[in-house]
This record gives sequence, structure tokens and C-alpha cells, in this order.
Amino acid sequence: MKKSRRNFIKTTSLSIASLSSSSFLTGFSNQSPERKLGNQYMGDFKAPKLKKIRIAIIGVGGRGHGLIRQLAHIAGTEIVGISDLHEDLVNRSVSSCIEIGNGRHQNIAKYFGDENKWKKMLNKIKPDAVIIATNWNNHAKMAIESMKKGAHAFVEVPIAVTIDEMWQIVNTSEQTQKHCMMMENVNYGREELLFLNMCRKEIIGDLLHAEAAYIHDLRDQMDDEKKRGEGLWRPYHLAKRDGNLYPTHGLGPVAQYMNLSRTEDQFNTIVSYSTPAIGRNLYAKKKHAKDHLWNKTDFKGGDLNTSIIKTNLGRTVLVQWDETSPRPYSRLNLIQGTKGTLAGFPTRIALQGGVPAATEDHHSWAKGEQLAAIYEQYDHPIYKRLETLAKKMGGHGGMDFIMLYRMVECLKEGIPLDQNVYEGCFWSAVSPLSEISVSQGGMPQKFPDFTRGNWKETKPLKIVN
Ligand SMILES: NC(=O)c1ccc[n+]([C@@H]2O[C@H](COP(=O)([O-])OP(=O)(O)OC[C@H]3O[C@@H](n4cnc5c(N)ncnc54)[C@H](O)[C@@H]3O)[C@@H](O)[C@H]2O)c1
Repeated sequence: MKKSRRNFIKTTSLSIASLSSSSFLTGFSNQSPERKLGNQYMGDFKAPKLKKIRIAIIGVGGRGHGLIRQLAHIAGTEIVGISDLHEDLVNRSVSSCIEIGNGRHQNIAKYFGDENKWKKMLNKIKPDAVIIATNWNNHAKMAIESMKKGAHAFVEVPIAVTIDEMWQIVNTSEQTQKHCMMMENVNYGREELLFLNMCRKEIIGDLLHAEAAYIHDLRDQMDDEKKRGEGLWRPYHLAKRDGNLYPTHGLGPVAQYMNLSRTEDQFNTIVSYSTPAIGRNLYAKKKHAKDHLWNKTDFKGGDLNTSIIKTNLGRTVLVQWDETSPRPYSRLNLIQGTKGTLAGFPTRIALQGGVPAATEDHHSWAKGEQLAAIYEQYDHPIYKRLETLAKKMGGHGGMDFIMLYRMVECLKEGIPLDQNVYEGCFWSAVSPLSEISVSQGGMPQKFPDFTRGNWKETKPLKIVN
């Protein structure tokens, strides 16, 4: 009698717990489904070495064209297929790659004209790797199909839009044993690499708290004359969804400083609040005629979203997002430890006892030229190795090139990529989880464990030379 009552209480409280932590918006549950028999954990996955990497790309708009041009420069690549909805964009990228390749990219197949031509490309060309630089809603299905057709998938940010899509990506990667990396280029910025190196060297002691953001006024994407590009699809997300819709540029780097999802610590819960939604509706009124599409759209997503992640160790990560307000660009990029703080925008360092030859104590920041000795001592070895080339190649100050160079290097050497499929999912999961939290008045949401507990044995990202 007693036993069955205890069981009843246990089951009832369990079901209440699972109800309160599952989404009424998407039907998502934070329970990890079991790994299917035969599937393999991909945390430190090493794919067979590739001497030459046959690369195809889907989406050569604003972002994809730059990515494929840079890849075309890197030794060991052959660009074999380019797909976009638009013929002129495909032709532009093909011409660039042929010119850059100096004989290396002579047979680039072109696919354009309808939504599904990329599938024909995968079937016919059978590339080793596929770069996906399309609108957000297409990422998951394109990544999944690429892996099923035998290619490693490299996806622009965010890796997917819903938690369900993220699980499908994880399951397909584990089943096909193909990499699926979300290409978080910001992890390869000079400042981010410097901070990663300093955190690993324990210069700021035990890590306690981080601040990450994507604050970038992108209202002009709503302008009429834009017949191509993000203005065609991104504002619709801001109209319909309320949360942090673009978390990974800020979060990716700080997650790696803290070794989240890699042995030491893990994403646990998130709470999220948004401000009122005013700026987009105002912009539409000011810029466009009364009967313009944007004046018939109600932008529901709050202008600024603020979320806080709590990790298993109890650390906190503030993540903010604002693409609507008139303020300067920032990713915050702050990491605070027991012995000091490193911060971005602009780069600043405060250390207990002071920064040698710059500050006397931690009450003021060392910045600008005062940081010369810090860069000298702690610039990441990868940055030092690739600095000259990265500066020449550019792409967000060189970070794009370093990322692409590392992707090619890892595939050639058959070593784990710097960002695994689970990191792409955890970092992107902030969007759907923050939306649920906002809709529930800031209720904490638990992160699903995409690794199913295997994060505990995934090695921290090394400071590679
Ligand atoms: N990492 C970064 O710094 C960075 C910078 C900009 C954009 N992005 C990301 O890159 C992605 C693309 O952004 P963008 O600015 O290039 O957008 P965009 O709209 O300029 O380009 C997307 C392209 O995808 C093509 N496309 C869409 N559906 C297709 C289909 N079914 N088949 C073939 N092609 C298709 C479109 O024709 C378009 O040319 C987004 O995920 C964005 O968030 C990342």
C-alpha cells in the first residue's frame, strides 16, 4: 500500500515536472531519446583522411559567395558543384572559383532554377563536403540530406530552427558517421582566440560568468529596394518569433572558454525575457508607404532579448540579441573569473594585481596600446600561424578564412573538427528555448542533452598550433 502510494507520488511529480519543462509552442520535450542501435557518438569523431576535398555549396547569396571564394583559394580543395535559386548568382560564383583556382576548379556543375535542384546536385556530384549558406528554414533538411548522401555537412548559423530539427541532425550524423559542423566563424576571431588561450592558461582563474550578444542594427534589411538577400526572409522571423533568434556568434566563443559540453561543464537551464516590440513597426511606418508589406505586418518579437543560461557548475552566461535598436555593434564577449575579466567591444583586460606594464590593479581596464604585451604573449598559435594570410584574405577581419582553413586542415588530417555537431545544436538551441521561456513569462527551460551524457568524455578543445 505504502509502496504504491510512493510510486504514485513519484510518477505524478515526474509527469508534472515533464509537463512544466516541455514546450506548448512546439511540443518539444527535453528528454533525450535513446541513441539508435548502431549509431555512434560524434563528440571527438575522426573521419578518414581526405587528400583532396571535393566541395559543393548550396546558397551563394551574400554569405555563400564569400565562403566559396575563400575555400577555392585553399590548397587541397576542389569546388565541384554550386547551387542557388538564381542562375546569375551561380554563374558569379563559378566564374570566381575558376579564376581563383588556376586550373584546380575546372569542372563545377551548376544547379539553379527551383527549390530542389540541390538534391540533384548531391545525387549526381557526390561531394565530400557540402557548405550550406541558405535561409535558416532550409538548414536542417539540407544538412540531413547531405549527410545521407555521404557528405560532411558544414552549415551556416544557426544550425537549425527547432529542437526537433536539431535531434534529427544529431541522429543523422551519428547514423551516417559524417561531420555536421555549424560554421561559427566568430570562434576564430583574434580576440576570441586570445581569450580562449588566456582562459586555458588560467590567467583569470576559475571561470564564473560570461556575457555574449549579437547586437547589430539590421533594420535596413526591410528596405524596399532589396529584391535579393536576407530582407526576403529574415524579417519574417522577427515578425513571428519572440526570443533570441541569433545567439551563436556571441555564445559560441564563451561556451568554448568555459568548456561547455566538453568534460568540464554543460548547459543546464535558460531563462529569457524580451522588451516590447516597437522598433520594427516604427521603422516600417517611417520608411514605407501605408500599404507596404511591412506596414501590414505586426512585428511581434521584442526589440531586445535578454537570456541567462545556468550551467551544471552553476556558472552564468548572459546572452543578448537586438537587431532593431539604434546602437553600435557588439558581441559583448566578456568572460569573468576569480582573478580577472576579459572583455570585448573594445578589447579590455582587468587582472587582480594589474596587467603588467599597463595597470596597477583590477579597478581599471588595460586597453588599446596597453595590450601589446598581452597579444605578444597570448595570441593564439593558430592566429600567429595564419595571421598574414588571414589579413590578406579577409572575411570579418580574417576570422572566416581561419575557420575555413581549419575545416580543410582537419578533414585532410582526419582529426576532430574544432566544433562538433552537439556544440552547433546547444548554441542554436538558445533560440527555441528562449522563445518558450518568453512565452511562459520567463520560466526556466532545461536544455535537452544532445550528447546523451557523452559530453562528460568529450575532450576540451585543444590550443592547437
Ligand atoms: N557567419 C556569418 O558571419 C554570417 C554572415 C551572414 C550570414 N550568415 C548566415 O548565412 C546564411 C545565408 O545568409 P545570406 O546573408 O547569404 O542570405 P541570402 O538570402 O543573401 O542568401 C541565401 C541564398 O540561398 C539561396 N537559396 C535559398 N533556398 C535555396 C534552395 N532551395 N536551393 C538553392 N539555393 C537556395 C537563395 O537564392 C540565396 O541566394 C544565413 O544562415 C545567415 O544567418 C552568417
